Amino acid sequence: MEIIERIKDMQAYSQDLRVEGKVISFVPTMGYLHEGHLSLMKEGRKRADVLVVSVFVNPTQFGPKEDLAKYPRDFDRDRSMMETVGVDVVFAPTVEEMYPDGYQTYVEVDEVTKNLCGMARAGHFRGVATVCAKLFHCVLPHIALFGRKDFQQLRVIERMVKDMNMDVGIIGMPIVREPDGMAMSSRNEYLNPKERKAALCLVKAITACRELFDNGERRVGALLDRAVGVVMNEETARIDYIRLAHTETLNDLVGVVWEKALLALAVYIGSTRLIDNTVLGEEFEKC
Ligand code: PAF
Repeated sequence: MEIIERIKDMQAYSQDLRVEGKVISFVPTMGYLHEGHLSLMKEGRKRADVLVVSVFVNPTQFGPKEDLAKYPRDFDRDRSMMETVGVDVVFAPTVEEMYPDGYQTYVEVDEVTKNLCGMARAGHFRGVATVCAKLFHCVLPHIALFGRKDFQQLRVIERMVKDMNMDVGIIGMPIVREPDGMAMSSRNEYLNPKERKAALCLVKAITACRELFDNGERRVGALLDRAVGVVMNEETARIDYIRLAHTETLNDLVGVVWEKALLALAVYIGSTRLIDNTVLGEEFEKC
């Protein structure tokens, strides 16, 4: 497994592969890997000749009140995990390499960033779109894989790629859950054992809402009430948002769900903000 830190070296490596006719798959990450990341890598491995993974904690997607310095990091652990799934190249640039002095260009995706996490985390998706555009220009992948846990992020990247005519296929992969249903996330690391138990209210809310939907309930208000009720039962939880949204535009649904709906949740457990989601009308991912 090769580790590349410089943009020019990464581009030269990928350009050579492309000349040889090799297919490159790419998984962007901020490190502190878990099974969710590995599932993206395994799929990337299957679909291409060469698998590139980036490890870069991107400062531009953290708000001023979000603790960038506290974001968990352990490159040695990440490296061993990547070796187990056959990653060929790790692209691990420094912040100075990605955002040198004088840097001033950003990518703004419009409508699809306005609701859900876009409301609570001003500038977050500007940072995500910018770094992904830059990473695509460094890695030159044919395909890139993203998890559906960050459902809005996936839609933002799909939109950016389409609108900017980027020649990268975007693949959305199912959420990977712990045996008790908790969605895997690097942020789970922040939870103490009591909070980890309390955090199950997110998946419990999803399960309860799905049950209601499967029994024929289609009123948006009734479906949301069920999810909100479950989370409010957990005394350490504080709701940032719980919404039913259109699966493509991510606009709030009103009235009834006609076919499918994204149930999206952002909930604070202590000081940790967790997100989870499900698409009502589609199968639930197995734990
Ligand atoms: O999902 C993440 O880990 C990040 O938002 C990403 C896509 C690697 C961009 O920094």
